Amino acid sequence: MNYGYFDNINREYVITRPDTPAPWANYLGSPEYGAIISNNAGGYSFVKSGANGRILRYQFNSEDKPGRYLYIRDDETKDYWSASWQPVGKDMSTYKSECHHGTAYTNMIAEYAQIKSEALYYVPLNKTYEVWRLKLTNTSDKTRKISAFAYAEFTNENNYEQDQVNLQYTLFITRTYFKENKIVQTINENCNNAVNGSTGKERFLGLAGASVTSYNGDKAAFLGRYHSYGNPIAVENGMCDNVLNYNSNGCGALHSALTIEPGETKELVFVLGQKNNDDADVILKQYEDISFVETELQELKDYWHSQLENLNVTTPDSAFNSMINTWNAYQCFITFIWSRAASFIYCGQRNGYGYRDTVQDIQGIIHLNPELAAEKIRFMISAQVDNGGGLPLVKYDHNAGHEDTPDDASYVKATGHPAYRADDALWLFPTVYKYIGETGNKAFLDEVIPYANGGEDTIYEHLKRGIGFSMERLGDHKMPAGLHADWNDCLRLGKKGESSFVAMQLYYAMTILKEYAEDKKDSEYIAYLTQIQKELGDTIQKECWEEDRFVRGIKEDGQVIGSKKDIEANMWLNPQSWAVISGLATKEQAELALESVHRELNTPYGVRVMAPSFQKHAFEGALALLFNPSTKENGGIFSQPQGWIILAESLMGHGNRAYEYFRESSPASQNDNADVRLLEPYVHGQFTESTESPFEGRSHVHWLTGTASTVMVGCVEGMLGLRPDADGLLVQPAIPSEWKEITIDKVFRGKKITIKVENPDGAEGGYKEFYLNGEKMDKNYIPAESLKDVNEVVLKM
Ligand code: NOJ
Repeated sequence: MNYGYFDNINREYVITRPDTPAPWANYLGSPEYGAIISNNAGGYSFVKSGANGRILRYQFNSEDKPGRYLYIRDDETKDYWSASWQPVGKDMSTYKSECHHGTAYTNMIAEYAQIKSEALYYVPLNKTYEVWRLKLTNTSDKTRKISAFAYAEFTNENNYEQDQVNLQYTLFITRTYFKENKIVQTINENCNNAVNGSTGKERFLGLAGASVTSYNGDKAAFLGRYHSYGNPIAVENGMCDNVLNYNSNGCGALHSALTIEPGETKELVFVLGQKNNDDADVILKQYEDISFVETELQELKDYWHSQLENLNVTTPDSAFNSMINTWNAYQCFITFIWSRAASFIYCGQRNGYGYRDTVQDIQGIIHLNPELAAEKIRFMISAQVDNGGGLPLVKYDHNAGHEDTPDDASYVKATGHPAYRADDALWLFPTVYKYIGETGNKAFLDEVIPYANGGEDTIYEHLKRGIGFSMERLGDHKMPAGLHADWNDCLRLGKKGESSFVAMQLYYAMTILKEYAEDKKDSEYIAYLTQIQKELGDTIQKECWEEDRFVRGIKEDGQVIGSKKDIEANMWLNPQSWAVISGLATKEQAELALESVHRELNTPYGVRVMAPSFQKHAFEGALALLFNPSTKENGGIFSQPQGWIILAESLMGHGNRAYEYFRESSPASQNDNADVRLLEPYVHGQFTESTESPFEGRSHVHWLTGTASTVMVGCVEGMLGLRPDADGLLVQPAIPSEWKEITIDKVFRGKKITIKVENPDGAEGGYKEFYLNGEKMDKNYIPAESLKDVNEVVLKM
């Protein structure tokens, strides 16, 4: 069963049935002014911080309410409905609707009682307020008297928790006013001169394009006693009673009574924000010319579509195309920009960027906007401590050169992170490598960046210290110590315990840095790296390889984790995929390990992070035990590693396997399975429940997940085989045998390349011939200097 479809031309997902199995959301604006909206208009808004800048209320763990509600009432029949199906929820046999989630805008189209409505929601590009444009068209042949109502439920206080729990205070600090065409809400209005450190705030909901007939600034007055969002008394009566709040919950509710002739369309523009009265007036004035909305909408589309244009792929699988060309790419930008700031699951409490998450998020956009990526890489490098480790949490107000570190009690207190993690800085290596590959900007390595706690160095030296950090913290077997944790938040191996995953990351980091060292003719360091990499490789081989798999690590007390002999958790995914990605595994090991993954971890919904789940035999430090079996790190299908296994299979030339894993876990591929998956079919979630769950296939934690970037990399570098290095572009696709032809349009260093992959014999990897602009090349590599402005490449598999 599906609830909608992908409109690839307009880069929209169109929801055709509004009773989706979960609120299916979209992101508007940016964390400067962020708005999340579901297909039923549920959601919230905030300024700068989801925790401390919340302006619209939302009930988490509830029924997707309240939201940005637009009610429509036929003043003759007294019947009423909403521009989104909910909250009124008319019978779907008479209420027809479509929700178009696009790139940073959402448009809800509905038709009921011969009134067509269009509710468009967006945050104008680089602005810090939001616009709701309501268009009403009379499709009947008689004049209609229609009332339109807009409702926004303001928080009483910007701090989300205070608004929810400290009612003895927050109920008594706001009031609303009606001023001409808007409701203005004030908070701590006597404190406008920063009395006691508290500065008053003002929000507004205003109307342009029509006049206000009645209004409410008081939530209870608008909704009415024992009424709710589905049947507000004001809407039922066709009139608000002009009550403003004072020592009660505030809201913005504006009513406009309209007469609409047959065939006529009336447009109203509601604007909401946290601005003072004068600024609100200036903003609202712009929308007196109603066409301004279309201009702004076009601006948004132009901006976002241009961000997505550098890669376009045409394969026989439209789900693959929809994800890679639009939705996975757009999700990569959203995770890049929003980190884990706010969603329907993240309530806004995080006060910074997770180091590993953010450095991985960057990877997802490098092929689309490398310079935007570079800015964030610089930022993250400035959050590397001078000992080479990354700050586990980089505060939103990070002040490079002046930060405390996990060695300081003050940092631990402020962030809740008690120690360094073993993997954080190691993510920099592939991220920097991808950026330099995409741009050819080797000089990047010479840029000087401060350390988080003082001092500065070139990026090249920062990377050296990253290696140093691990090498100075080795465990008893001479692999990097697990410290607080590695990628897996739930794995406590002990401070001196050793993680095979981190060891492989370190091994890979050494390969990358060696390439740069060679370029710089840094011979002493090359010799050093060569030696330590050989030793590390030998150690991993000796300590971690077990017949047909790599183990997950060694605890501080010597216990091996992820051994075949273990009753539970005897097979782990990441050491197998990373043994391939890192280049550590021999061909034979790689084949065996990947086969073990398929045999023991694969499910119809993707590959489990480990199996069997912990239930009775967990070791001390196996925090995954906290979760139900087949859930999250406890044997769930953790989505982020799906990208790594797709990449690993592709690197081995196993296009069929890579595609199998893509299809199992790709949201778009499950468009028709929405009642099982529940999450939006256009975005990845953090994990999917696996075999031991009664709800196998159900996915959770939408939008803000590292999955966006890993799957993107798995598909682009892996399956499509686009692997740039400093000097050019390797093209080495690994695609399913059934794909007889694919076309890739890529902009690479400002040059256009159209790559036609021909696969008449149904290969899944490798190539026979490779042509650049008609010239047969001796390998499947495009030297950057051979590129013209427009290029044709043919790869025959
Ligand atoms: C989610 C965390 O944000 C991420 O840092 C971690 O790698 C994964 N969980 C796996 O534990």
